[in-house]
This record gives sequence, C-alpha cells and structure tokens, in this order.
Amino acid sequence: MAAHSSNNIAIVTGASRGIGKAISLHLLSKNVSVVGFARNASALNALSEEAAKLDTSAKFFPVAGDVVDESAQQKAVDIATENGTLVALVNNAAINEPFALIADATAEDFKRQFDINVIAPLGLIRKSLPQLRQSKGRVINVASAIFKSAVKNQAGYGGSKAAINYITETLALEEPEVTTLSVHPGVVDTDMSTIFFDNARRAQPELSAYIDHVLATRITADFSGRIVGNLALFADHELSGTYVEYDEPKLAKYSE
Ligand SMILES: NC(=O)c1ccc[n+]([C@@H]2O[C@H](COP(=O)([O-])OP(=O)(O)OC[C@H]3O[C@@H](n4cnc5c(N)ncnc54)[C@H](OP(=O)(O)O)[C@@H]3O)[C@@H](O)[C@H]2O)c1
Repeated sequence: MAAHSSNNIAIVTGASRGIGKAISLHLLSKNVSVVGFARNASALNALSEEAAKLDTSAKFFPVAGDVVDESAQQKAVDIATENGTLVALVNNAAINEPFALIADATAEDFKRQFDINVIAPLGLIRKSLPQLRQSKGRVINVASAIFKSAVKNQAGYGGSKAAINYITETLALEEPEVTTLSVHPGVVDTDMSTIFFDNARRAQPELSAYIDHVLATRITADFSGRIVGNLALFADHELSGTYVEYDEPKLAKYSE
C-alpha cells in the first residue's frame, strides 16, 4: 500500500513489544511518525534507536507511562499534535491477567482490566477526536475473538473486549468523519498469548493437544502488525463501526 506524507502521525499504545511494536515499525516504514505509548521506557528507547536507523523521514516519539494516567494520555496527544497531523489512534495496549475464575478474582483485578482495556482507550479517543475529525482519521481498537464464546478465567478480559466492540460501533455512529474499527489481530506469537496458553494448559490439561495445535499455528507479530497498521492508515470508511478479523477475505488487500 502507498506511503503516507511524512507529516502524518499516529498514536500506538502498547508500542514497547508484541503487536504494538510491530504496528509501530510498519507505520514508520510507511513514512508515518509514531507516538509510542507504554510503561517500559527502556524498551521504547530501544525502539527509538531502531527507528532512527530505518530508511524513513518518519520519527518515533516515546511516551513512557501508564495508559490509565490521563496526564500521560494528554501528553501523547499533545506530542502528536505538535509534531504533525494526527491521522490514527491505535488502542492496542491491553492486559488479560489475572487468569482467574470470577469466584476467585478481586474487584481490583476486574477494575484494572477494564481501566486499561476500556477506560484508557475511551480517554485517548476523547482527547484525539478534535484532530481526527479534521484529518478524517481512523481509530483502531485492537479487539479479540474471545468475546464470541466464554472462556473460563477470562471474564474480565473477554468482557472488556466485548465492551470495546460496542464502543467502536457507537463511535462510528456518533463521529461520521472518523473511521473506527475493532480488529481481531489473530492468535499472535507474543508474551500475552504465551502466558495465556501456559495458564490454559495448567487449568485444563485435557486441552493440551488442542493448545499445542493452536501454538503451532500462531502468526507472527510482524504479519499481524502489518495488517493492523495498514488498517490504521487505509481502512475503507465503509468498514467503520464493524468488528473485523485479520484473515477475512475482505481484508486481504491490507496484508500487502
Ligand atoms: N497475542 C494474541 O494472540 C492476541 C489475540 C487477540 C487479541 N490480542 C490483543 O492484541 C493487543 C496486543 O497484544 P500483545 O499480544 O502484543 O500483548 P503483549 O505482548 O502482552 O503486549 C502488551 C503491550 O501493552 C502494553 N501495556 C500493557 N499494560 C499497559 C499499561 N497499563 N499502560 C501502557 N501500556 C501497557 C505493554 O507495554 P508495557 O508493559 O511496557 O507497559 C505492551 O507493549 C491486545 O489488545 C490484545 O488483547 C492479542
């Protein structure tokens, strides 16, 4: 897909590793600067150094902080606004821990999952909307297929991902100038999926053969990041308000 103007900029949460790092590198390769938001400052600085070596005029701006922190959210949006035209917000950061039954998890566990996975994306959306309306930009909420059927020990995570889909649909209705999507990025070889399947195997050893099969078919973060990154820059407006999965035939052109 074509390169963008080097003045364009995107905010990517969870840029320090996994899918968010891959999305960031893909956007940089398309000449789009990235405000990368995550807690691990040294991982973000390492990504800055990697970005500086790429053959692109786009820049990487690290914001080390917790996505739940409203002042850090504002800092991310301010850096984007001061350094270019904000064309995309990718709400990618999320947690799926603790792996616990509803009966065993605490209110604090659920609150933390919803704060990171739902309330923080809403805060960043609200703060980015003035710029995204002007640029006719895009909001990509990184979702999950988990909401389609219940998974033991994942009520907080699955519930938060169901919530983000409703928010996507509502935002598309309320903000017709902005293109908003929920995207299932695939079962991807990252820390999150490794820890999830370790826990799932411990909880349900009878599923071991199935888990081995799924682990063997995980896709790479680079492949997933390319599709999500292309959607952040090029998603057709007709997709706005929908939940999509990375391997749907209608998304084939975004994997190029
Ligand atoms: N991997 C999969 O198979 C899979 C499947 C379906 C959906 N997803 C979704 O894809 C997205 C990325 O997943 P992943 O597999 O790349 O996860 P990951 O490897 O665990 O990475 C999560 C990222 O989120 C950041 N993060 C977590 N909590 C944060 C906080 N409070 N503040 C700021 N940043 C925070 C982490 O950075 P720091 O630790 O540096 O803060 C890290 O960069 C998530 O939304 C996940 O639900 C993944």
